[in-house]
Formats: sequence, structure tokens, C-alpha cells
Amino acid sequence: MTAYRPPLEGRRGKLRLDFNENTTGYSDVYPLEDPTLFTTYPEYAALHQAVATAMGIAPEQLLLTNGSDEGIAVVASTLIEPKVDVALTTTPTFPIIPHCMRLAEAQIIEVPMTNALAYDVPTLTQAIATHQPKLVMLASPDNPTGAYLTPQVVQALCQQFPNTAFALDEAYGEFTGQTQLDNLTTCPNLLVLKTFSKAWGLAGLRLGLIAAHPSLIEAFRKVRSPYSINTVAAETALKLLPQKDRILAQAQATMATKQWVLQAVQDRGYSVIAGAANFFLLGVGMDAQLLSDFMTERNILIRSMSGRDHLWGWVRVSVGTENEMQALVAGLDAFREASALMFDLDDTLVDTSKSFDATIHQLVEQHTGVPIKPGELNALRAEGGFNGDWDATAELIRRRGKDVTREQIFDEGIPLYLQVAKDVEELYTSIPALERIKKRYRLLIATGRTRPEYAPVWGDVLDPIFEGVWCRYDIEGLRAKPHPDLIAHAAQMAGVRYARYVGNSVDDMQASNAAGFAAIGVTSNQSEATLKAAGAEKVFATVDDVLKYAYFLGD
Ligand SMILES: Cc1ncc(COP(=O)(O)O)c(C=O)c1O
Repeated sequence: MTAYRPPLEGRRGKLRLDFNENTTGYSDVYPLEDPTLFTTYPEYAALHQAVATAMGIAPEQLLLTNGSDEGIAVVASTLIEPKVDVALTTTPTFPIIPHCMRLAEAQIIEVPMTNALAYDVPTLTQAIATHQPKLVMLASPDNPTGAYLTPQVVQALCQQFPNTAFALDEAYGEFTGQTQLDNLTTCPNLLVLKTFSKAWGLAGLRLGLIAAHPSLIEAFRKVRSPYSINTVAAETALKLLPQKDRILAQAQATMATKQWVLQAVQDRGYSVIAGAANFFLLGVGMDAQLLSDFMTERNILIRSMSGRDHLWGWVRVSVGTENEMQALVAGLDAFREASALMFDLDDTLVDTSKSFDATIHQLVEQHTGVPIKPGELNALRAEGGFNGDWDATAELIRRRGKDVTREQIFDEGIPLYLQVAKDVEELYTSIPALERIKKRYRLLIATGRTRPEYAPVWGDVLDPIFEGVWCRYDIEGLRAKPHPDLIAHAAQMAGVRYARYVGNSVDDMQASNAAGFAAIGVTSNQSEATLKAAGAEKVFATVDDVLKYAYFLGD
């Protein structure tokens, strides 16, 4: 079993949007003056009463804890008989929950969230019916998904399964305007965990609570250490509790700011999972970690979730003040400025099987009388070095024992090609998809096609979308792929720091890697294995899949 290790060091002095804390806090009420707070053992009676009053519960329904983390551990270790009892939670969820279940040696059932990272209530209900767990522990709103269960759904579950204890972690409850605490009187098997770390702004002081039936509270009290809450936490909370309305108003203001920032990031082409708490998931795709690192350089901390199961491509962002969110959005804009997505054209962005390929077939047969066999052209391309269609044509003719120059084929081929191209070539993706990806990345084309083959066929469609289109021979002296020259030149002219090249051929993969950029392959005429062997970082069936999977996450 591994320890839970959040990245806790080196966060001071930065814009901390990575732990869902309150980014401003309430410095006017923090008690730093009275030395006896530090020299005496803590006293809790006043705090206990004040918390119970603020939460609208009876004192005997309350146990204060050293943050919710301790509450989760206390609940799991009290209720679970090691190696015997079943405990159920969801996946993904707040990692401390399964961690504490594991520590308590429960048999753990993890019910997946939906693809949209929401609660799947029917599946959850079915799993509880099947496994009859002793304990179900769920966070609502959950972290990192933001998934939410209404008090009505929870009440129904508690009533349907009276022999199961339902522990609802409500760390972010203040942001929803609703609470499960209202169900305590009707549901003796319900436990609610809350924290002062989030809306209340006291993450550093460690204060949380468990609210439940008095008999459960008595059992938990035996497990929790008697002085687990320190005096500074107790005194600060005592001062803050009468200001509950102010805390709830700030939570509401945070949620209003959240609406603004969600719109701002969606306007920039990002998917989001909004969730019900003071954070959201930003759908970044393959650059999730890169973006997090880029933001860290700008002293803005956001948390890539990409390494975790079910969370590939998502970055969790806490919502702070409007100014802080403006800094975030400025960071996203700077990231776009620094990032290019480059494309090959033929058989990557555009289906050329009926244009170039048809012309190659026609020319080879005309010159040699021997038609191209099925698979022969792609086999030649797989060798590398024959990515250019006229190079491939000349080579196929030569391999049939006839000598032609590349220039001769070029002169014959282009008019033949241009006769058909505009009618038969089709985009593998859509203009709206390209318009959207353009919000995220500066778009460039680096193609082995010459300008006379590009401009009349695609110029009017693609020039308005792509910031730069670089064709072979545009710049004298630049060598064709698999040499890196054209890709390197395009990236240099755009002045980008990060780039990826999407292509369909062995030469594309090699040229991109040689230019220092990762390559993404599409299998329009080469296999995944061939493209991977040539250096592709990832391979997809079409460029549309690249866009959908890697960038338009969550749609
Ligand atoms: C769902 C959830 N529960 C509990 C906690 C822990 O809160 P505390 O600081 O009170 O231990 C967090 C903190 O990130 C959380 O997201």
C-alpha cells in the first residue's frame, strides 16, 4: 500500500489554485496575540456548542476532528471489521477515502462514475444491493469530479439500505446551498463529514467534524485522539462561526466567479466538467501536464489529474477571486501563444486517395503498361523516403524497368491531378472542428505538396483557418521530409515553444522527431505499428479522432 502524497511543499507565495482552498481567507479574525493559546491544553466546550448551533444539530450528534481527513479515518477504522467487512466508494474520488478503507483492511468495492464523471445512481444502488457493504463513503460534491448527490437521493439510499452506514463527505457543501445534515433526524444510518478547510478558509488549522446519530458519535469518540484539534484552530473557528452568513456569501460569490471563468475557458476551446464545488475540471487533453508545468512557471498552481485512472487529460482548477481567475485565463492565452499544432496535408487533413493516388495509378500504367497492385503504393511509402507522390510515381516506374525523371512526372502529374482534385478531395475533419481547435492552438500546415498543388485546391478553404501554410519549395534550400527542415522552419517562423506534428507517413514521424517535436500518427494508409516504429507518440484512425480524443475532451 502506498502513502497518499499530495504535492504539499513550495506552494507559499504562489497563486494556489491546486487545493480548492479559500484563496483570501479572513485574516482579521485569526488570533495570533494571546500566548496562553500556545501554552495550555485546548478546551473545546464552547467550540463544540458553537459548531453544533451553526450546523443546526444537537451537541451529542457532533464530533470535532482534525480536518475531514481524520474524520474519514475515524469512520473507516471504527465501523470496519478488518478483513471481514465490505466498504464501498466510487472511482475516481477523493483518494483519502479508499486509502482509509484500505488502512482499515476493508474489502473495497469501487463503483465507477459515469463517463461524464457524475454519480451513476442506478449502478451505485445495484452495487450496494449486491455487496451489502457495512460502510458506503461518498463525497458530495466529490473531489476531483465535482459530482453531486442531492439530499433526496441520499435519503432514499439510507432508507433502502438501513443496515449500511452512509458517510457523506460534504467538504464542499457550502458551495451547493444544500446539506445532507437535514437528513440526520430521519436517517440513523447517515453520517455527514464537514471541514473548515474549504469555504471557511482554515485549511492550515485542521478542523473538521462528523455529524451522526449519538450512538455512532460515542463510538467514534473512542477512536479519535482527545486533543486532536489545536487551540488556535478552536479559537479561530469560535470567532468565525458567528460570521457564517459572511462565509456563505463568499461561497456564493466564488460560485458566481466560477460561472464567469467557465465561460472564459469554454470560449477558448476547452471542455469543462463544471461540478458543484469551488473548482472545475479543465479538459486539456494530451497537454494536461505541460499546461500545469507552464502555469507553475508563471507562479499559478493548477493540478493535472492526468496520471490518475479515469482522469486522463483533465486538470483541476480551484476558483478564487475574479482577479485570480483573470490571471489564470491570461495564462491560458499565453499557453496558446506558445503552442502550435502542425499538420501534414495529404492523407492526414485531406483524403487524397481519389486524387493523388488515382493520378499515380494512371501515370504508372501509362508509362509502363503494368498497373499498380493493391497495397503496392502504401508498401513503398512504408519504406520511407517516398512520401512525395511524384517521387513515389517515378520510383514505381523505375522499378518496372523504365527510366523517367522526377521533373517529367511532375510536369505530367500536376495538370492531371488538378483536373480532378477540387472535386474529389475531402477534409478528414470539419471546418467547425478546426475552428474550435484553433482556439487552443496556433495552427500550421507543413506539407510536401507544392504551392501550385495546394493553392488552387485548398487555398480558399484552409488559408483562413491556418496561420501558416508551408509548401515544399516555398523556401529554397529546405529539404523534403523526412528531413526536418520544413517543420522546423514553420515552428521557427511562428515563434512557438511547443509543437506537435500530425501526419500519416513514416517520413512525417521522422521529420517531426528530427525537428524536435512529438509526432502524432493517423493510420490513413500506414499501420499503427509502422507509425509507432517510425517515432509516433500516439496513433489514431483519422485526424478527427486526434482532435476529439486529444483536445475536445469530454464532448
Ligand atoms: C472531498 C474532500 N474531503 C475531505 C478533504 C480533506 O479536508 P480536510 O482539510 O478537512 O482534511 C478534502 C480536501 O481536499 C476533500 O476534497
